[in-house]
Amino acid sequence: MNDTFLRACRGEKTDYTPVWLMRQAGRYMKEYQEVRAKVDFLTLCKTPELAAKVTLQPIDILGVDAAILFSDILIAVEAMGMPLEFHDKKGPILGDPVRTKAGVDRLAIPDTEDSMPFVLETIRILRRELTVPLIGFSGAPWTLATYIIEGGSSKNFLHTKKMMYQNPGLFTALMEKITATVIEYLSAQIAAGAQAVQLFDSWAGILTPYDYEKTIFPHVKAAIKALKKYDVPVIYFVNDCAGLLDVVKKCGADVIGIDWRVDMARAAKKLGKKYSLQGNLDPLVLFAAKEHIEDRVKDILFKAEPARGHIFNLGHGILPETPVESAITMVEAVHRYGRND
Ligand code: CP3
Repeated sequence: MNDTFLRACRGEKTDYTPVWLMRQAGRYMKEYQEVRAKVDFLTLCKTPELAAKVTLQPIDILGVDAAILFSDILIAVEAMGMPLEFHDKKGPILGDPVRTKAGVDRLAIPDTEDSMPFVLETIRILRRELTVPLIGFSGAPWTLATYIIEGGSSKNFLHTKKMMYQNPGLFTALMEKITATVIEYLSAQIAAGAQAVQLFDSWAGILTPYDYEKTIFPHVKAAIKALKKYDVPVIYFVNDCAGLLDVVKKCGADVIGIDWRVDMARAAKKLGKKYSLQGNLDPLVLFAAKEHIEDRVKDILFKAEPARGHIFNLGHGILPETPVESAITMVEAVHRYGRND
């Protein structure tokens, strides 16, 4: 078992810098497209043999050092009681967005074994097959709240911020319910065999630092604290984190995932020696020439050196249009230039 990724998460010495890619299983890969041509996205997530199959594809094809469970952050929201659909062009749609007390009261804190057994079964299959560590994941409470309140993706997050400012008591009750769900869901993933867990806070960056610190951060910090009782690394990915690093620094996770808008040297300096860092190549650099991709990999490797540990990754998910050869170029460059001997 290649444990380089887990060692880097804990800040232990490694022979080389490990690497994986957010959204590494997906449409940019023809092997994924072949599976997806036969089933819709939600069926893929809910069929353990297929979900395991696409989880494994990038491990062989790219040669990455970690696998991430194939699923979606909105699977847990559906289990809380919201009808979920994915439309090819429009992205996710959650029926009956939650904007009232009755709506919040109706949401369940689901038992994972009862309502999402396919996630746990996928994990069990993967642990039998994988030779690299398996990462489980969940949306962070705030990011899940935006989908629950907006009913899908959003531009200005009007309804979410309106609830936050106009009805803070209700907003807090909702955040508490989501946080309890996140803790239960990730605890179940760990019990089933996930060897690290990542919280995706994809929409953290639309908040003022004031609201992030006062209203959002206490919930994610509570979730991280609850998960720390298990012996697996917790990764907190904060998209658009530049303005939030002073707060994020207090989160207590093992690894902070950094988006591409921040210089890695600055992130390393700000976050100090308590955290390993994950990131942070702009996914669009994968559209540049091979030599340029390699230069940018070297730059990030160098800038992350002062950190306690570094897991190379993109600064956000890989785009469906990305050439697979560019992803392979990136992984090979990390392995070549990230040697620690
Ligand atoms: O990283 C991986 O390889 C694991 C799988 C994974 C998916 N979604 C698969 C997926 C993970 C970790 C996610 C997380 C996720 N889902 C996030 C947080 C991460 C981020 O990118 O910020 C969010 C916000 C979602 C919600 C979501 N799922 C949206 C908005 C969309 C539609 C956008 C799009 O790209 O079409 C999805 C769909 C989705 N999730 C796909 C995949 C492979 C595409 C589905 C398809 O095959 O058509």
